[in-house]
Amino acid sequence: LENGLMQTPPMGWLAWERFRCNINCEEDPKNCISERLFMEMADRLAQDGWRDLGYTYLNIDDCWIGGRDASGRLLADHKRFPNGIAFLADYAHSLGLKLGIYEDLGNFTCMGYPGTTLDKVVQDANTFAKWKVDMLKLDGCFSTVEDRAQGYPKMAAALNATGRPIAFSCSWPAYEGGLPPKVNYSLLADICNLWRNYDDIQDSWESVLSILDWFVAHQDILQPVAGPGHWNDPDMLLIGNFGLSFEQARSQMALWTVLAAPLFMSTDLRTISPQNMDILQNPLIIKIHQDPLGIQGRRILMHKTHIEVYLRPLVSEAYALVFFSRRTDMPFRYSTSLAQLNLTSSNLYEAQNVYTGDIISGLRDDTKFTVIINPSGVVMWYLYPIKKLGMSQH
Ligand code: DGJ
Repeated sequence: LENGLMQTPPMGWLAWERFRCNINCEEDPKNCISERLFMEMADRLAQDGWRDLGYTYLNIDDCWIGGRDASGRLLADHKRFPNGIAFLADYAHSLGLKLGIYEDLGNFTCMGYPGTTLDKVVQDANTFAKWKVDMLKLDGCFSTVEDRAQGYPKMAAALNATGRPIAFSCSWPAYEGGLPPKVNYSLLADICNLWRNYDDIQDSWESVLSILDWFVAHQDILQPVAGPGHWNDPDMLLIGNFGLSFEQARSQMALWTVLAAPLFMSTDLRTISPQNMDILQNPLIIKIHQDPLGIQGRRILMHKTHIEVYLRPLVSEAYALVFFSRRTDMPFRYSTSLAQLNLTSSNLYEAQNVYTGDIISGLRDDTKFTVIINPSGVVMWYLYPIKKLGMSQH
């Protein structure tokens, strides 16, 4: 969507995966979906380095709605959001953050809260703009194919008509099976800044793999449709939660980065460990993620040894390379060369291992090298040319 927003894939925090529809504020006041939760996450985003690295979106998901007033205008649950959404938006803005909100194109949201039916789309877009919201995730539960075909373009137009730049996240393709001909990706790229293509992520490595497998299986369709202003969304990062090992957390971060996926954390930033913070705040990974070309990477090799290689082209003939192991035995020694990865060029390359900082210099395209990849782990390289080699040297 050409509204000037999300020229690189967005980064931020989204409540759903970690906090779900916990509305039990009596017994669980710290973790229930409430003003307090979003204000505390806003404080952490601003004070713990997240915002300055680019994690600027603070996104509300399902279960915030209290109802509609006499004129049909949406209201936040008054017990859990006593000061309303406009107050939260102001609070986010005062800290240099952006506020995202959630609605659903149907009679109800997935968790049964009042939805945005077709006749409510314009009014709700105006309400979000009036509250100074910066992003809308529009879900698709309890909607028909026809509702969605009309509703998503209608909401895109209504948001545009408000005059406020509001990023638009569409769950539309996820409700149509994610693939053409049911999904029209060029239309989505015109009306949405990002879109959920596939299943909800759950707090397990199995879930990460099933999402990755689907995105890779359909990369010929999905890879070309992503670019500045319009991104595929394989769903939130699980890093900091309960289901991933250390290696797996590093793998999700590396793989989501080569896929040019939105980096929406969904974890408790008040209690996250330094180790997990290091993964999410790795400056070189974030630099790669935010590469201005905005090209989505691809899996370029899959070996019988259960080693896979992913590649994302970056500006100035640089690349991100991810060597990924699906093995479950022990660290694997993988030997290859840039030429074997189809990276033939007349450049002399250098590579920096993004997690260890180690630098491997003097890589010509025929130089053999070995990486050691841990089970369900990655080795991720930032690969950049240091000089052009003359033909004679080659
Ligand atoms: C389905 C979406 O895909 C999830 O990300 C989340 O928004 C839930 N609905 C909320 O009910």
